[in-house]
Amino acid sequence: MTPALEIVSLSRRFGGLLAIDDVSFSIARGGLSALIGPNGAGKTTLFNAITNIFPPTSGEVRFMGQSLAGIAGDKLARLGLVRTFQTARVFPGMTVLENALAGACLRARSNAVAQMLRLPSARAEERKLREQASALLDLIGLSAFRDAAATDLPMGAQKNLEVVRALMADPAMLLLDEPAAGLNDSETADLAALLTAIRDCGVTIMVVEHNMSLVMGIADQVVVLDAGRLVAAGAPADIQRDARVIEAYVGGSV
Ligand SMILES: Nc1ncnc2c1ncn2[C@@H]1O[C@H](COP(=O)(O)OP(=O)(O)O)[C@@H](O)[C@H]1O
Ligand SMILES: [Mg+2]
Repeated sequence: MTPALEIVSLSRRFGGLLAIDDVSFSIARGGLSALIGPNGAGKTTLFNAITNIFPPTSGEVRFMGQSLAGIAGDKLARLGLVRTFQTARVFPGMTVLENALAGACLRARSNAVAQMLRLPSARAEERKLREQASALLDLIGLSAFRDAAATDLPMGAQKNLEVVRALMADPAMLLLDEPAAGLNDSETADLAALLTAIRDCGVTIMVVEHNMSLVMGIADQVVVLDAGRLVAAGAPADIQRDARVIEAYVGGSV
């Protein structure tokens, strides 16, 4: 089977800085991969290159076998590739539930007209989406806050809400940039449970994560970047023993 994601000789330059330097790896469908590396390694830049926020300077990204050249934003979501950002971006002026439901408008199957006219099929669809949003909020421990303003949630809960909103788009693959940063232990446990549950539903996940016990506990593949270069990619147990990985982290932030 074609991999979910193929990164082929990818580079991204910012002026004199080669932030991603000839990186190649692939992510199998249905896997949960962790992307790790010291601060400034290029993890966010890699996500930005994949999603064409800062397109690759050279190289190629293929998603489910298709080149992503020139494809960005909602178009990516409609292909099934959805990302979150390192800083939580919930929609202000909307409740927790409304934020979750907002993700559903990125679904591949668009029935905007039926929704606008509120045809019976659209009402049934809306009920289904509300049920799905409620179930996801429950799984991440946010159901008690469903009618609260999203911006009133603690930052950790806002980050988890962003993951729920991304999931409501019904993605084939999720790119999550440091979803656990700033989460307390119980929020982190809720996130780990949610990630493994959605992986078990067949969603491919790639997550930037610094918490090594979380990474080793849930990931089946680990990709290591340092100074824009690929240091290693493999099973968590092999990565933990890899001398180059240990070296990349000496004096690092992890
Ligand atoms: N938009 C940008 N303009 C200029 N330099 C950038 C930009 N985005 C990232 N960089 C640089 O690229 C390098 C990698 O950054 P980043 O991808 O954010 O690292 P990480 O997410 O691994 O901490 C850093 O040196 C950063 O300063
Ligand atoms: Mg980053």
